[in-house]
Amino acid sequence: MPPESSGRAVIVGASLAGARTAQALRRGGWTGPITMIGAEPHPPYDRPPLSKGILLGRADRAGIALLSAEQCAGLGIELRLGRPAVGLDPVARHVALGDGTRVGYDALVVATGSAPRVLPETVADGPRTGVHVLRTLDDALALRESLSAGARVVVVGGGFIGAEIASSCRALDLDVSIVEADRVLMGRGLGTRLGAAAAVRHSAHGVRVLLGRRVARLHGQDRLTAVELDDGTELPADVAVVGIGSRPATGWLEGAGLTLDDGVVCDETLAAAGVEDVYAVGDVARWRARRYGTTLRTEHWTGAGEQAAAVAATLCGTRTEYDPVPYVWSDQFGAKLQIFGRVRPADEVVVLDGDPESDRFIAVAGGEGRLQGVVALNAVKAAIRLRRSLSEGASWPSVIDDLRS
Ligand code: NAI
Repeated sequence: MPPESSGRAVIVGASLAGARTAQALRRGGWTGPITMIGAEPHPPYDRPPLSKGILLGRADRAGIALLSAEQCAGLGIELRLGRPAVGLDPVARHVALGDGTRVGYDALVVATGSAPRVLPETVADGPRTGVHVLRTLDDALALRESLSAGARVVVVGGGFIGAEIASSCRALDLDVSIVEADRVLMGRGLGTRLGAAAAVRHSAHGVRVLLGRRVARLHGQDRLTAVELDDGTELPADVAVVGIGSRPATGWLEGAGLTLDDGVVCDETLAAAGVEDVYAVGDVARWRARRYGTTLRTEHWTGAGEQAAAVAATLCGTRTEYDPVPYVWSDQFGAKLQIFGRVRPADEVVVLDGDPESDRFIAVAGGEGRLQGVVALNAVKAAIRLRRSLSEGASWPSVIDDLRS
């Protein structure tokens, strides 16, 4: 039984998933107090523009606000910003904050997101100035500051962040290289074949793409001067941006009794295993995905909002399972890349139209007898049509037969 909706709801994490949960709770009829706790000093803002609009100077702080302090006040949502949660006692039902205060709850929603992975100490122990990560608004503003005319940029990691930053750097007419450890670009999202094509596309747009290589050293005294790779290549650089993946922010939950395994392990309703009245949403949540018969953790904007809606509905009295077709998009070189479902390394990929090395294509991925994923670049309508087959769990042979007939 979820707690009464007149109880006290506490949301730890004041980004997209947390903000959407607070809003959905109020919309769904939660009448009790709602407190949202955030580690960053800013009210909730939208992260997708950080690697694009903010870097290009086309978006600013006000333009990416998700939920202002005034809106929170209007909704009766108490905001506690700049104070990270440092511990949880699920028996006494309170969250401990860094400033020593405790916040009691009847329902707790963990929305602490993820934090960037960092380079090994031997590499990171080099110059500080010019070396960036991109997760927060402050990170993005600092990076934008350093992208002055003529800056030579090395992006470490060719995943979502690396690919988008490289695209933004080219739009700023900067010299940019991507150093990716894998043999393909964006392999996690695109799989092997489409990831190889993405590397060709980036090269065609003027990005120096270095695959199968890692960073060995960062050169410079205080300020970065070059990035040395593990094959001895030295790339002169004024700016390095490290985007080598992220880890769910669960450190503060260690020892609290939740099941932690690359995220907070949850059931189909995003209720955390091992404790009562605790839910997880956003990057931090690893939920039992009925569709795939396994647990899943995604780091997707769309999923964060959907999870927030599902948890709020459950807390407001309607038990709601979360069983989506995962979806993520990325904007690069003026084209919209969309990935529905998933593309795993062993999946078969069939290109239906266009050319993955160009600026328009649509492809499907299948494995274990089922359609697993749809990938589209500048082909929104066709992708939406195929999404239906994906959500219906269409068999791979039937999809291929239909497409060939
Ligand atoms: P990612 O997991 O997408 O990519 C990390 C890449 O770094 C992988 O390709 C990996 O092979 C590579 N890598 C790992 N260690 C390396 C090393 N030592 N040297 C070189 N390459 C290495 O993670 P990314 O790009 O850092 O993004 C972080 C988070 O931001 C993710 O949650 C991502 O989903 C999110 N994000 C999402 C966007 C979107 O949805 N459009 C855009 C930007 C970020």
